[in-house]
Amino acid sequence: MWLNRDIVSIGDFTKEEVMQVIEKANEMLPYASSGHPEKPLSGKVVSTLFYEPSTRTRLSFESAVFRMGGNVLGFGSLEATSVVKGETLSDTIRIVNSYSDAIILRHPSEGAARLASEFADVPVINAGDGAGQHPTQTLLDIFTIWKELGSVDGKKIGFVGDLKYGRTVHSLSKALSMFDVSLYFISPEELKIPKHIKREIDKKVPVREAKNIEEIIEELDVLYVTRIQKERFPDINEYKKVAGTYVIRPSLLTRGKRNLIIMHPLPRVNEIPPEVDSSPHARYFKQASYGVPLRMALLDLIFRGD
Ligand code: NCD
Repeated sequence: MWLNRDIVSIGDFTKEEVMQVIEKANEMLPYASSGHPEKPLSGKVVSTLFYEPSTRTRLSFESAVFRMGGNVLGFGSLEATSVVKGETLSDTIRIVNSYSDAIILRHPSEGAARLASEFADVPVINAGDGAGQHPTQTLLDIFTIWKELGSVDGKKIGFVGDLKYGRTVHSLSKALSMFDVSLYFISPEELKIPKHIKREIDKKVPVREAKNIEEIIEELDVLYVTRIQKERFPDINEYKKVAGTYVIRPSLLTRGKRNLIIMHPLPRVNEIPPEVDSSPHARYFKQASYGVPLRMALLDLIFRGD
């Protein structure tokens, strides 16, 4: 089931499969710093093709490959590639398919990873397709909730910020709707969660929308904060209208539950001021560190099966 599988959309997974990755990531945790003793990716080549900026996703994938004994090739920006000469995605994928054993792709167009998977024989992993999906971030987000709070079921999770363009929100809210959770969406009118996603989630779990975090902070177990996705706005003036709408101040957190955790896929701009970093609620750096064991788990499943 896992061997050579494409990871394109979180919608392709069952809850059991999500939990299988989570449990494997937990096993990988010690190896994320020491390296996997069996070197399961020995002799394997993994490509990372990043058509959009990335720090955590690309570097944690590359670290995961190295920790598993494999090798990486690829690019993190387009200047030195044939993309600037006008090469199509499908041609690039056809070529890289013959140079490597798996392709990790980030691209500005929604649906790019699905398209790539049709042109590649090797597995394609979606590392973010425009405002679409970011399934491996979702798995690491669920791992963080599970690890830091002991379970996912029974939790009340609030999303705040750019729910319209934020692909991490789109994937994570869909995945969480397979669990026994309540979801809260807090955003300005212009950045509400897309209707088609809300409709899908609404059928499965209780959903509440709010304009102010203050209205719901006391109820939450997880506050998932996101950056306003400046690069996705068709008009910069629209961005300026909503920039800085939500800032998580330490005073707000004093009203939260004792065990409330603050997550953020990062990078942050100004939505979480540095004063919050030392708060016992802050988990975003821990969350980013879980990127390596989680991606090791995923690669292990794809390369060795279950
Ligand atoms: C996110 C992304 O690229 O979607 N970052 C990440 O992968 N950790 C979030 C963002 O860019 O705001």
